[in-house]
Amino acid sequence: MAENTPSESAQILWSGRLEEKPGAQAFAFQSSIMVDKRLALEDIQGSRAHALMLGKQGIIPEETALALDTELARIAQDLESGTLKVDLGAEDIHSFIEGVLTSRLGDAGRMVHAGRSRNDQVATDLRLYLKHLVPDVCGDLRETLRVLLDQAETYAEALMPGYTHLQRAQPVTLGHHLVAWCTGLERDLGRFTDALARLDECPLGAGALAGSGLPLDREATARALGFSAPTLNSMDSVADRDFVLELAGATAITMIHLSRFCEDLVMWASEEFSFITLAESWSTGSSIMPQKKNPDFAELIRGKAGRTTGNLMCLLTLMKGLPYAYDKDLQEDKEALFDSLDTVRACLSIFRGMMSTAVFNRDTMEGALVGGFLEATDVAEYLVRKGLPFRRAHETAALLVRDCIAHGQRSISERTLEELKTRSALFERDIYQALSPEACVSARNGAGGPAPEEVRRQIGVLRTKISR
Ligand code: ARG
Repeated sequence: MAENTPSESAQILWSGRLEEKPGAQAFAFQSSIMVDKRLALEDIQGSRAHALMLGKQGIIPEETALALDTELARIAQDLESGTLKVDLGAEDIHSFIEGVLTSRLGDAGRMVHAGRSRNDQVATDLRLYLKHLVPDVCGDLRETLRVLLDQAETYAEALMPGYTHLQRAQPVTLGHHLVAWCTGLERDLGRFTDALARLDECPLGAGALAGSGLPLDREATARALGFSAPTLNSMDSVADRDFVLELAGATAITMIHLSRFCEDLVMWASEEFSFITLAESWSTGSSIMPQKKNPDFAELIRGKAGRTTGNLMCLLTLMKGLPYAYDKDLQEDKEALFDSLDTVRACLSIFRGMMSTAVFNRDTMEGALVGGFLEATDVAEYLVRKGLPFRRAHETAALLVRDCIAHGQRSISERTLEELKTRSALFERDIYQALSPEACVSARNGAGGPAPEEVRRQIGVLRTKISR
């Protein structure tokens, strides 16, 4: 949709009461058109449902309702084709659309606002817009999950160290690590889906706060707009922005997840780790250091989690202590929410591109399993299986690690059976098979574990969940 530059022709809906009008700067300060212009089509959709209902209920003549409906459909077409441009000098999208309608239909256009306020109108528009947009965000999440789950399947057997405290902890697989990411993203999908279900009520007909004495049919407008029901209470309808907070929250959490994935990627792309090689087309260079290949995209996604956290803070602060019912403060809701939703969608898309072209360096990952005694827990569990209490087994394994370090050895398997037996008589020859990274991983085949067949089961569970 194209736009005009600000004009003097703005239609003001409330000019009757005030003899003196705000000056241009003050008017521009309180106008919201720059942000709510993206609700144009939803505003028209809401007005069409409202106009037809007014006709059906005999509040306005039926033929006037039909004329309003037809002209509103034309305005939508004209906006989409670009023959009509949003006037950025208008106060908001509601006054702009009503103004165009009135300029085209005269008095008929002046009938559309009966039984309605911009307070229930904006709440309706925003919910409608989100009913259209949030499924797309869910689609982005699903697509991202598919990319990661495909990779998890490819690398279900690829050994790597798992970390706690950023210290090598126990052997896992890359598939296991990637499914860990996916599990968080699947919960994000659930949060967006939940929010969508809760916002599926129509505020139209709540008026400014107290409904209308006109015989509105709120069930009909709710149904016509695809909502499951009208909202229950007219004051809550115009005061409530829980759905904005929920979506900003779901977005902030999703971005926190992406920031953590990206932090892993940034580390893995470093010379020190070298676990991953990002595609050149998903890297950037340095203006001074000719050799540099930087993971800027991952860093920027990590950084943008700051914006979405900030937007959530902004919205919570906006709502805190706000008196019932509507206050103009609420106008600030859209800019923060739209920014969050735009940000998460852009980040998911970039993240997918970067991930699907990245190459994992399996040998380096597997090589990182040597030297950190990642098998120590398995040694302890070996002794537990032979009947030793875990606390003793833990101590024995720790002493073996000390023995290795004292002798410049890099793995407990470098100790001879005799040497092992000086720490516990329970050791037998079979300990050596239990210590390879493959054995450590495939022994952890319980629910949630990193064993390849268990990781494949987890992938299957997530695939089923996201296909619903
Ligand atoms: N631009 C306003 C908003 O976004 C629309 C509602 C204005 N209502 C009012 N009484 N001033 O919240």
